[in-house]
Amino acid sequence: MSAASKEYKRVTVKSLTEMKSNGEKIAMLTAYDYTMAKIVDGSGVDVILVGDSASNVMAGHETTLPLTLDQMIYHASSVVRAIDRALVVVDLPFGSYQGNSKGALAAAIRIMKESGGHAVKMEGGSEIKDSIKRILSAGIPVMGHLGLTPQSIYKFGTYTVRAKEEEEAKKLIKDAKLLEKLGCFAIVLEKIPAKLAKEVAEQLAIPVIGIGAGGGVDGQVLVTHDMLGMTHEFNPRFLRRYLDLYTEMTGAFNQYIDDVKSGDFPSAKEQY
Ligand code: KIV
Repeated sequence: MSAASKEYKRVTVKSLTEMKSNGEKIAMLTAYDYTMAKIVDGSGVDVILVGDSASNVMAGHETTLPLTLDQMIYHASSVVRAIDRALVVVDLPFGSYQGNSKGALAAAIRIMKESGGHAVKMEGGSEIKDSIKRILSAGIPVMGHLGLTPQSIYKFGTYTVRAKEEEEAKKLIKDAKLLEKLGCFAIVLEKIPAKLAKEVAEQLAIPVIGIGAGGGVDGQVLVTHDMLGMTHEFNPRFLRRYLDLYTEMTGAFNQYIDDVKSGDFPSAKEQY
């Protein structure tokens, strides 16, 4: 377990607000399966995000768009079975909440009922306010997501830094305030200038968790497979790699192949 100012037996949406008030940074990572979630939760991370980045990381799609609600429920339920402490937030997939608040509520209810997740995350601001409101009215906690929102990649055209221009920055601040007013318990800010992210975090009472948004926010999130160095083609400036598992795993697989081919594995001790 790493250092924390207060021990939380179970992290709730309330704990996160308390962490912000106490000046304790929130550590969030992704997981999509039982085994990884067990390790991530056991290490003491506060929030586990079952992100729709599963579309890229687990399924090999170029974007997050193809992932279905059934697939998100499969990933989320695998994660929930592993968890003792962390708050589990599940992405609502593309197409399940945009433009139809009744459909959005139905999707969020399926996530909560069928996976056992604790909250949902949704990308966007004023455009999706009706869906957010309806989901919140059913007692389902919502985490917002502004800045680079990968479900809108075809609108942006690229994965470059968002809200560098004043007009977009102003809209982002307005949307962040709206999400807080609607009742979201936290907001993710992805790939925006650090100065802007700090300004948003200072203006909101709810926690702001950044990815590529600098150190002036209330917490950080990374994709676990990226920070472990399992993926090696994705190299944004914000990514800190804590291991080089791609190289380590390749070495282990090479050794296994050699051992099988040479007859070294299994040894006398490794058989019945
Ligand atoms: O899907 C995801 O993993 C995310 C994070 C990058 C915030 O939304």
